[in-house]
Amino acid sequence: MAEGRFITLEGGEGAGKSTQIQRLAERLRERGATVCVTREPGGAPGAEAIRQLLVTGETTRWSPKSEALLHFAARAEHLERTIRPALARGEWVISDRFTDSTIAYQGQGVGLEFINQLKALVVGDTMPALTLILDLPVETGLARARQRHSGEDSAEDRYERMGTEFHERLRQAFLNIAKNEPERCAVIDASGDPAAVATAIWQTVEQRLTPPLSRNCH
Ligand code: TMP
Repeated sequence: MAEGRFITLEGGEGAGKSTQIQRLAERLRERGATVCVTREPGGAPGAEAIRQLLVTGETTRWSPKSEALLHFAARAEHLERTIRPALARGEWVISDRFTDSTIAYQGQGVGLEFINQLKALVVGDTMPALTLILDLPVETGLARARQRHSGEDSAEDRYERMGTEFHERLRQAFLNIAKNEPERCAVIDASGDPAAVATAIWQTVEQRLTPPLSRNCH
């Protein structure tokens, strides 16, 4: 059976990850790959329930440690019920966020040592083969995200409300992860139009992961 591939997309608010994931999945499916599109926090029933506790409500509702633990509890469900089974079936798994988000977001409140220990326990060696970090200026991303959420009754905007300095540190944290792990990570300029971003993403996937050439080759 074909070996599954694990790809994650990361980045700050309003980077356009969901649109890009749909485009990438479509392109891979055209080549005959079976693709599992998923997200964090979420991607499994219990993890989606935990998501509601994390993305809504007061910015200060969790202590930094509880918040990191909740993200890893959701991730444990996601890995066991969705990601690992899909990879075992030979599928391409594309996740909208994964452990790098916990390092970038929660790493600002708890030490990295705490997160790295949880990562070793929960994720183990199920790390992505490729992580695409969608980078764009903080103000551009936040403006896009606010526009997306305007008019929603219960917006999932708890992290968006955390202030510009938080988001500037977040951007740097993602860029640092990419610098420290260049073999796994690629930084994609997400400030351009969606078609240009999709092209940059596809070129990176082709270079790094050699997707199937056509439906007939599968
Ligand atoms: P999104 O689906 O719009 O990306 O929203 C999920 C939010 O959760 C986003 O603001 C980032 C945040 N988040 C963390 O803070 N830590 C994590 O580990 C993950 C996966 C997401």
